[in-house]
Amino acid sequence: MGVIVIGSANEDTAVSVHRHPGGGETVLGAMEGVGAGGKGLNQAVAAARAGAGTTFIGAVGDDEAGARLRSTFAAEGVRTHLAMSDSVTGTAFVMVSDGGENAIVVVPGANQDAEALTREADAALGEIGAGDIVLAQLEIPVDVVFSAFRRARTRDAVTVLNAAPSMSLPGEVLDAVDILVVNEHECLEVAGGDRHDVREAALALAGRVPTVIVTLGAKGALLVSGGDSTMVPAHPVEAVDTTAAGDTFCGALVARLSDGEDLAAALGFASAAAALCVQHHGASASAPSARETLDFLDAHSA
Ligand code: RIB
Repeated sequence: MGVIVIGSANEDTAVSVHRHPGGGETVLGAMEGVGAGGKGLNQAVAAARAGAGTTFIGAVGDDEAGARLRSTFAAEGVRTHLAMSDSVTGTAFVMVSDGGENAIVVVPGANQDAEALTREADAALGEIGAGDIVLAQLEIPVDVVFSAFRRARTRDAVTVLNAAPSMSLPGEVLDAVDILVVNEHECLEVAGGDRHDVREAALALAGRVPTVIVTLGAKGALLVSGGDSTMVPAHPVEAVDTTAAGDTFCGALVARLSDGEDLAAALGFASAAAALCVQHHGASASAPSARETLDFLDAHSA
């Protein structure tokens, strides 16, 4: 099967603002557009565009937004186990400021329908085997992620958790993870224990999870695996919209790993894909193809 993404699918409404409003403040913005998003959907699209045979497990509502998201998966060549929930399709409100920084509010709707998600996961994960990669995030209930990972482990599939949005996680969930991908903030929160140093937090997490990857934005990524830690530099680019950069990173990473690439090479590919993503507006729409990423790497490795 290749890559199996279990997670959220949202319809995003994006607006641009000069700067994000503070509490109690109103600012004027401009409409950017409505498009397919959700961390799960974005990661599945990024994996498929990076060349992986990709399956998505999730839930949408019986509404027009849900129908549009189903069409997105079909257009991207992503196979789906997509439940029709009694709840409405997930929605996200995305504000992008000058410089590309985003602030997002998610109204999860169908993405929190644990019963529907579990039904789809049970059907889909019965088909996986050794070498498949199961990728999840935390916009769906953590229990659903945990049970999917336990199932994946019994079939010798690799489990990858992107712990976004961040939350403190029960130890048994971390124990079911092979590769953890977090940003700085998520790293500190997941590691817990009142830590302030990201490297220290990553090393603490690596005592529990075999491979920890901390994405550090323009500073690159920190990889802690097998007792070693390595910094992978970022590609300096002008960001117009950082929405889905982390999702593109995760989707591209698992796509290359499922193709047999080693961790260091897959990380280099993933950070190039993220660098391309931030140069475009939108969420899933800004994930690059494998060809675009390889050309970018060629151009930037000279
Ligand atoms: O990571 C970006 C995504 O977060 C957006 O597409 C939005 O839907 C929220 O899930």
